Amino acid sequence: MLFIASIITNLLVYGSLASPLTQHHAVHERRSTHPAGWTRRSEINNRAILPMRIALVQSNLERGHEWLMQVSHPGSEKYGQHWSAKEVAEAFAPSDETVTAVRDWLHSAGVSSGRIWQSQSRAWLHFNATAEDAGRLLQTKYHVWEHEDSGMSHVVCDEYSVPENIQKHIDFVYPSVHFDIPLIRRDDNTNNLASRDANGPRIGEPSSGWLYKTTQWIDKSDLSHELVDCDQQTTPACLRALYEIPINEEVAEGNSFGVAEFSPQAYIGMDLDIFFSNYSQRVVGERPIEKMISGAIVQQQNKSCQFNCESDLDLEYAMTLVYPQKVTLYQVGDVVRGASFNNFLDAFDASYCEGDDPVSDTIYPDPSPGGYKGFHTCGAYEPAKVVSISYAYNEHDLLPAYERRQCNEYLKFGLMGSSFLVSSGDYGVSGISNQCIDPANRAPGPNASYTDGTYGTFNPSFPASCPYITAVGGTQVIENTNVVEALAAGQQPEQTCARFAYSGGGFSNVFELPDYQAATVKQWFADHPPAYSSDRYNSSQQTRGYPDISANGANFAFAANAEWGLAYGTSASTPVLGSILTLINQQRLKAGKSSVGFVNPTAYAHPEVFNDVTLGSNKGCGVEGWEAVAGWDPATGLGTPNYPKMLELWMSLP
Ligand SMILES: *[C@@H]1O[C@H](CO)[C@@H](O)[C@H](O)[C@H]1NC(C)=O
Ligand SMILES: *[C@@H]1O[C@H](CO)[C@@H](O)[C@H](O)[C@H]1NC(C)=O
Ligand SMILES: *[C@@H]1O[C@H](CO)[C@@H](O)[C@H](O)[C@H]1NC(C)=O
Ligand SMILES: *[C@@H]1O[C@H](CO)[C@@H](O)[C@H](O)[C@H]1NC(C)=O
Ligand SMILES: *[C@@H]1O[C@H](CO)[C@@H](O)[C@H](O)[C@H]1NC(C)=O
Repeated sequence: MLFIASIITNLLVYGSLASPLTQHHAVHERRSTHPAGWTRRSEINNRAILPMRIALVQSNLERGHEWLMQVSHPGSEKYGQHWSAKEVAEAFAPSDETVTAVRDWLHSAGVSSGRIWQSQSRAWLHFNATAEDAGRLLQTKYHVWEHEDSGMSHVVCDEYSVPENIQKHIDFVYPSVHFDIPLIRRDDNTNNLASRDANGPRIGEPSSGWLYKTTQWIDKSDLSHELVDCDQQTTPACLRALYEIPINEEVAEGNSFGVAEFSPQAYIGMDLDIFFSNYSQRVVGERPIEKMISGAIVQQQNKSCQFNCESDLDLEYAMTLVYPQKVTLYQVGDVVRGASFNNFLDAFDASYCEGDDPVSDTIYPDPSPGGYKGFHTCGAYEPAKVVSISYAYNEHDLLPAYERRQCNEYLKFGLMGSSFLVSSGDYGVSGISNQCIDPANRAPGPNASYTDGTYGTFNPSFPASCPYITAVGGTQVIENTNVVEALAAGQQPEQTCARFAYSGGGFSNVFELPDYQAATVKQWFADHPPAYSSDRYNSSQQTRGYPDISANGANFAFAANAEWGLAYGTSASTPVLGSILTLINQQRLKAGKSSVGFVNPTAYAHPEVFNDVTLGSNKGCGVEGWEAVAGWDPATGLGTPNYPKMLELWMSLP
């Protein structure tokens, strides 16, 4: 974090850098635009000291996939032998070759080794340099930019270069083209597009549309407690019946289940108790273990469905299904700026923390009024054994490099034995708030162009499209189906969710088809040649298909703001699958085994442990979307959980 005040009052003079180098330089990063509200003021004082930071490329990322398969594939000898955080950090730390190459370059340019400090994660080199020397080193000029409304200033350049032969060792340099001072969010969200501020979209924002799809309020007298009503109202008892989930009675040492919520989303304790007292009496008075990340508070100032429905829904179901196992709440970000997935992941990995992107992530301290003035929560926690996330972006909102970097982080948590589950989206093949990619301008990023959802290119969800995430789709009980009778007759009572919310699914435009699902997805293409072509989706048959697994996501009876409602969407499905995996982890831990970790390789190798869903489709972008068919499909994945079969399978693994 750079504050200009602390830079220019701190004038030191270092020996000048060596004269221009003979190596050939290449532009490493260039900025084509700047955030709204910023104006270039003056060239920076030559003698101002800039705290320079160089992000070194990680090593062995190409081996990460193979390592993850070793501990996650049921056929592997090393199944379940997860790595410690330290082993993960060491395996991916920059290589000696990288560190030496960059140090040698700096040294030859006059930065003596005594001035260079390497971060503990080995991923960063820090040194102080005068603006003049830094400009010469990177063949650029720094300017002071000022923000109109807040008066804040920042040091930025338009582009910078590094020698060609060390480009491959460097991810990026700060300060440089990035505006790493956050701007105050603007309330400009009058159209139905997903919320964006001067920077990128914010996932926890009330108007953002990336939460539970909708809520219908109902009277308490209309609450059902009968399984015959499961086609009209989903309750904990319905989920237990559908997926054969037992009522839990115990806790295994070392087990944990985390639910992530992004501020200003917040749960209300009284809502939990209203729900528990009606549907799970023994849980009344229970609260989640609260782990706060980067200035988070469970805010209680703004109370309405827009602020409380998501958190209340997630916690009411997660806590009910796993009790007496405790649920951990990861509350992320301050209430002013909110936070991104990267801000969340920072809390588990200090080396990741230092690379947050000023456009798409929140940079703390937050200078806006009421903003969090502390620093990021970096590497403070170990991730829970299962982490449930009911928030998402359009894959198209973000840049591929940013998404790949984040996806690699999920890979690392899989290596450490955590299952990361993310909702697949609620708009079928459309994106958040029904946006489809504008066929006339398919460039991704914070300025992406979208249609109103009546036409256009399918809009996949991220991080569901990351192959190291378990993407959770949505189902519903088929209307007028008596669940008790259908189950007794061995019939599938569910179909693709198509009630207010449509199960998100399709194919990534960024991530390659991972080996663990390749045979399954290729078979699906062979058996069901798509009616859509490349104007609708990446038809290469070479990209990741999702969702992986589904669970009911319709008509969830829940309490919010002291009222009763029915909630819809894959937001509801995700904590249900998370609860089931947590109960399986409980049995494995009790038997002295490891957690299930990254479940996709096992799930695709054993589709028989899921209830295949073969009805309905996930419409969007003006078409019917993908149909649920026998076997995997890009509407409901492999199907819904069958707890006894899943338990038996995972207990049979080492
Ligand atoms: C992106 O959007 C911002 C904010 O609306 C605008 O200021 C900027 O010029 C746009 N950039 C491009 C490249 O269109
Ligand atoms: C750069 O200077 C600041 C202020 O004097 C100091 O706190 C910091 O440790 C220095 N960084 C390095 C890498 O020497
Ligand atoms: C159920 O919910 C209502 C609010 O709708 C609340 O007044 C009541 O105490 C709860 N508990 C029971 C056992 O009904
Ligand atoms: C949230 O609460 C604050 C403080 O009471 C208020 O200023 C703000 O307008 C509220 N925001 C919304 C969207 O209701
Ligand atoms: C489809 O995805 C592949 C793999 O990421 C990529 O190489 C290709 O360019 C994409 N095709 C289109 C039309 O986007």
